[in-house]
Amino acid sequence: MMSVTIEIDGKQVQAKEGMNLLEAALQNGVYIPHLCHHPDLPDIGSCRLCIVEVEGMEGVQPSCKLTVKDGMKVVTHSEKIDPLRKLAMELLLAAHPEDCSTCPKYGRCELQTLIQYMGVSATRMNTRVKGFPQNDKNPLYIHDMNRCVLCGRCVRACNDLRGVGVLQYNKKEMETYVGTLHDKLLKDADCRFCGACAEVCPTGTIRDLIEFTPVEKKDTLIPCQATCPARTDVPRYVRFVKEGKFSEAVAVIHEKLPFPECLGRVCAHPCEAKCRRGDVNDPVSIRNIKRYAAEHADNELWKKNSKHMPATGKRVCVVGGGPAGMTAAYYLAKQGHETVLKEAYPTLGGQMAYGIPAYRLPRDVVAKEAGYLKDAGVTVETGSRVTDFAALAKEFDAVLLALGTHKGVRLPMAGNDLPGVLVNTDFLRNAAMETDTGMGKRVIVLGGGNVAFDCARTARRLGAEDIHLACLEARENMLADEEEICGAQEEGIHIHPAHTFEAIVGKDKVEGVRFSRVKSFTFDENRRAIIEKEEGSEYVIPADTVIFAVGQRTDITPEAGLTLGRGNSIAVQPGTCKTSCTGIYACGDAVYGTHTVIEAVAAGRAAASEIDRDLGGNGDISEVLAPVEPVDPYIGKVEGFGNLARKEECVRCAGDRCGDFCQVSAGLSDDAVCAEASRCLQCDLRFTITGHRVWSDYTDVEEEAAK
Ligand code: FES
Repeated sequence: MMSVTIEIDGKQVQAKEGMNLLEAALQNGVYIPHLCHHPDLPDIGSCRLCIVEVEGMEGVQPSCKLTVKDGMKVVTHSEKIDPLRKLAMELLLAAHPEDCSTCPKYGRCELQTLIQYMGVSATRMNTRVKGFPQNDKNPLYIHDMNRCVLCGRCVRACNDLRGVGVLQYNKKEMETYVGTLHDKLLKDADCRFCGACAEVCPTGTIRDLIEFTPVEKKDTLIPCQATCPARTDVPRYVRFVKEGKFSEAVAVIHEKLPFPECLGRVCAHPCEAKCRRGDVNDPVSIRNIKRYAAEHADNELWKKNSKHMPATGKRVCVVGGGPAGMTAAYYLAKQGHETVLKEAYPTLGGQMAYGIPAYRLPRDVVAKEAGYLKDAGVTVETGSRVTDFAALAKEFDAVLLALGTHKGVRLPMAGNDLPGVLVNTDFLRNAAMETDTGMGKRVIVLGGGNVAFDCARTARRLGAEDIHLACLEARENMLADEEEICGAQEEGIHIHPAHTFEAIVGKDKVEGVRFSRVKSFTFDENRRAIIEKEEGSEYVIPADTVIFAVGQRTDITPEAGLTLGRGNSIAVQPGTCKTSCTGIYACGDAVYGTHTVIEAVAAGRAAASEIDRDLGGNGDISEVLAPVEPVDPYIGKVEGFGNLARKEECVRCAGDRCGDFCQVSAGLSDDAVCAEASRCLQCDLRFTITGHRVWSDYTDVEEEAAK
């Protein structure tokens, strides 16, 4: 585009032909006060703060409404301009509350900075009180029309920038205010809850319900990404799915993790718990969207763009082929290190293959994604159990222990070693390997987390006829996911929350478990459990098998030569993966106890980055695998958007699924996936809006102050 030369306050500056004078001045570092102008919105010229004098034009003109012309001569301060600008500001403030200190936007308010810059008195004009009650009946945003100066930015953001058309000017007696048609709630007015109105509001009028500092803003307003331990760019891949671009979506996911299909089935999805759509009605079904994309992508794009650094000549051995070890090995190989992955069991996957049952995560899916390691150049040695870590450390430049927690815990209680007592890890592993589990027909599972439900539902599929699951927690505090609890109930498993385990009864073998009912269960200040039992509530549930599912530990002893921490974990130096032995690192469950698959992936990435740095690399394992496309800000109106119901996954009925280990859920249907992705509020879109600019950002102001 051609540029023109203009003169502002005696200075010759260049500006793009066709741009408005205010922006031309700002871009050249000349600050002109302004309020109703926002660079992303059409100008209305209503506040009149940006007035200037232009040679050859009569009077003063709002600079936001003038187009630059070659040879234009402009003055931004004069005896004519300054009092008029001051008056305009005082008129804006006439009905604005005087006291900024009570405003939640204090310190982040554009109007406040303007008041300071112009040195105007907020009280010189006759002040009036608008008397609008603060509207906090909507999710996510508060409307406080008493603070509004009618700059109209929010109305233009909603109508012109977004094309949603929810906000408009309303009138109440003599006062104009911003509202919705017939003052409907935002949800009923088809608001898209995109946040553009709050973003452009220069005062505390339309603001986020949740408060945050500028540093916290992105994490607070895009909580799905912030909550994901691997920080997957959720809004970006959900948008690709909405557009039917599954390969692009999966490439986005691959930027942060190597197993989207596995995680699309078993991720604990903390992102959904924080999804802002959940405040409107139900959270977006992010995990199922990920699964659908992973199942329907051709996997060409991310492979084509995948980073492979030249060989470094360094050798790394990763011990343990679970999600943490696989992730670390994958990224270490991509950083150019010769990487060997040793796994004790016959296949890769760790808990994904030997813990989580196949009806939740089919083994061919695990095998398919484990195959990406070989593609990345990892040498995989299965059936290779390592006991001498020190010897390995001599052979390799770095050794990473990602041993997982494969040893189940037996509670210290009477009868815990009777024949018929099993532990979760052995039971699930034997079931996965199709070897004898030692289970009878009447089973009691002790524990209330997801692993306990894996045991109970596996027992059902292996032919147990009477299955009970008991835990200390009350029903509402049970640790397992709701879908696991409901799924188990549908499969006829009896659930007994708020129960203590008194003893496993039986003479030569298990005959049952004696329980008491719990009245209250709390923790004291030292995190010790305080349990109050219901008097006289003891009773026995008969059984021939008891499965402990109350935790699991790393199978390691002090003889391994490493300093161990709580619960037999491997101790590492704070904030690192370094163990007590030089050259030996540790990550994942073996360090912090049994956590989720996505946390293990994040731990594997952190370990790969640290080891790469220690071996002379820059530790940068980041990748851009999908195109970074500009997003269309014009999202338009969708009727009933706020009430669009969450699409449910297709689940086999209990009668069908109990007899086999085929997967229970088929995920979202073809018809549902785009509709579900379209429910996303696109919280990231807000960050494409040009941010808040204040007078101190402009050089001429500083120069003036220095004079
Ligand atoms: Fe130009 Fe308001 S900024 S009139």
